Amino acid sequence: MKTPVKLTVLTGAGISAESGVPTFRGEEGLWRRFRPEDLATPEAFARDPVLVWSWYVWRRSLVLQASPNPAHLALVRLEQALGEDFLLITQNVDNLHRRAGNTRVVELHGNIFRERCTSCGLKRFSEECYPEEALPPRCPACRGLMRPDVVWFGEALPPEALRQAFGRVEGMGKGDVLLVVGTSGQVYPAAALPLTAHRRGAQVVVVNLEPTPFDSFADEVHHGRAASILPGWVAAFL
Ligand code: OAD
Repeated sequence: MKTPVKLTVLTGAGISAESGVPTFRGEEGLWRRFRPEDLATPEAFARDPVLVWSWYVWRRSLVLQASPNPAHLALVRLEQALGEDFLLITQNVDNLHRRAGNTRVVELHGNIFRERCTSCGLKRFSEECYPEEALPPRCPACRGLMRPDVVWFGEALPPEALRQAFGRVEGMGKGDVLLVVGTSGQVYPAAALPLTAHRRGAQVVVVNLEPTPFDSFADEVHHGRAASILPGWVAAFL
């Protein structure tokens, strides 16, 4: 292994595509079939919490039927080999990285299996795919409305996750590597991480099916499926 190297990974929906979880912006992407303003904003939730919850319950059920793919598993190998020199920053809410076995995970956009009370802030983990008559779920402590603990359009990212992600990347330097997998780079602030790493002197490696805005300054670009490319990339890295 080329030591000492800090390896940071940024993932997006593309890494879960081969597990059967839809991405957001591709041909089959969720934002082709649904309008974010109807389903993924605080206003939408205030207007129709049952509709919003039904969509998240449907997405929960899709993810529960899915399994981590070889790309997720390759990142587990990296964490096992590198320990604290490894950090995984994800925009995904699907929990597949944790299910695969990664523990050093920063979830920038929340987790679809966490719920948060809109009144008292209580959080709980739940894989429940509620039937329509049980929606919206209520807080066990105060009977307030529970919401999915994910980031919606117009909302700030969780401050602790943001601090960890940018702290890590701003602390990178020559010899360190940021591996960027399966993200279109359209959503900020996550999309600012690769350029930040590059400016600090770190190597940026992109693995993505299609070209991304990061390709122009990346040190290595691999166009293809993450599940095909990552296992070999990781084996060569280690
Ligand atoms: P996108 O759907 O915008 O982009 C997915 C990227 O993955 C695209 O560039 C695809 O080309 C690529 N891709 C698809 N299949 C792939 C495969 N098998 N292997 C490698 N790459 C593949 O998803 P994100 O960039 O994650 O935010 O989207 C960012 C955020 O926008 C999401 O977290 C979500 C969304 O709105 C919130 O909900 C807050």
